[in-house]
Amino acid sequence: MNQTGQLAGRVAVVTGAASGIGAAIAALYAREGAALALLDRDPARVETVAAGCRAAGVAVTTHAADVTDEEAMVAAVDAAAATHGGIDILVSSAGILDETPFLEMDLATWNTTVAVDLTGVFLAARAVAPHLVARGGGRIINVASQLGIKGGVNLAHYTAAKAGVIGLGKALALELAPHRILVNTIAPGPIETPLIGGLSEDWKHAKRAELPVGRFGTPEEVAPTALLLAASPSGDLYTGQTLGPNSGDVMP
Ligand SMILES: NC(=O)c1ccc[n+]([C@@H]2O[C@H](COP(=O)([O-])OP(=O)(O)OC[C@H]3O[C@@H](n4cnc5c(N)ncnc54)[C@H](O)[C@@H]3O)[C@@H](O)[C@H]2O)c1
Repeated sequence: MNQTGQLAGRVAVVTGAASGIGAAIAALYAREGAALALLDRDPARVETVAAGCRAAGVAVTTHAADVTDEEAMVAAVDAAAATHGGIDILVSSAGILDETPFLEMDLATWNTTVAVDLTGVFLAARAVAPHLVARGGGRIINVASQLGIKGGVNLAHYTAAKAGVIGLGKALALELAPHRILVNTIAPGPIETPLIGGLSEDWKHAKRAELPVGRFGTPEEVAPTALLLAASPSGDLYTGQTLGPNSGDVMP
């Protein structure tokens, strides 16, 4: 067990932990000594990530759940809290993305994205927050997107959901402050993960050309922002903030 890491003795729930940014955050948190409850709808891949995290010497549980399923989320989070003896940190990274022109977007397409990318963040926070209150404080870190700030073509559903995550984070930062719970949002720019594998080469080419840093990021370059927000003293003065590891795509 890593007793000297920045998160030693803390328990973190990470959604979307089977891949990409969530998996990289889980790996970094493990190296920093956090016990982990890794949640994803993909049980096989989350087990693989968990095995890597256990190699760092921390306790890791896995929870196969869909973030849009309120009952499953409450059951998974309550089981995680019971096994680990409480929860200190929530990272919501589960998300989906597809490109659909607005003039072709039907209600089902809209609802599917909003259910995962916005309501899923609400349900995770709603399930975890009582455990943070019981602990006397904690951290909630939601992964939105820089598209929630600047908008994106063929991404009205995704953009609206991610803007909603940023707004939700500000509301929770205000409302949960009396419980000593700090709530912040990470709004990454384009990051090389399976999520953007389906985006067109034209989009990627144009996007790279607009970025001051000139390239997409990696999940390992996003994870340290989630560590900064989770750890103390690095995260102690951040609440209601939106941090942008985004290659310079957005400059608020
Ligand atoms: N990759 C990027 O360029 C980028 C940029 C900005 C924001 N983001 C955001 O970062 C977060 C992580 O994305 P990523 O790039 O790591 O993607 P990814 O596809 O690599 O990982 C997403 C994970 O979420 C899980 N997931 C999806 N829907 C779920 C559901 N309903 N219930 C439970 N788990 C579910 C998937 O199984 C997967 O393991 C997402 O919220 C995404 O919108 C990504």
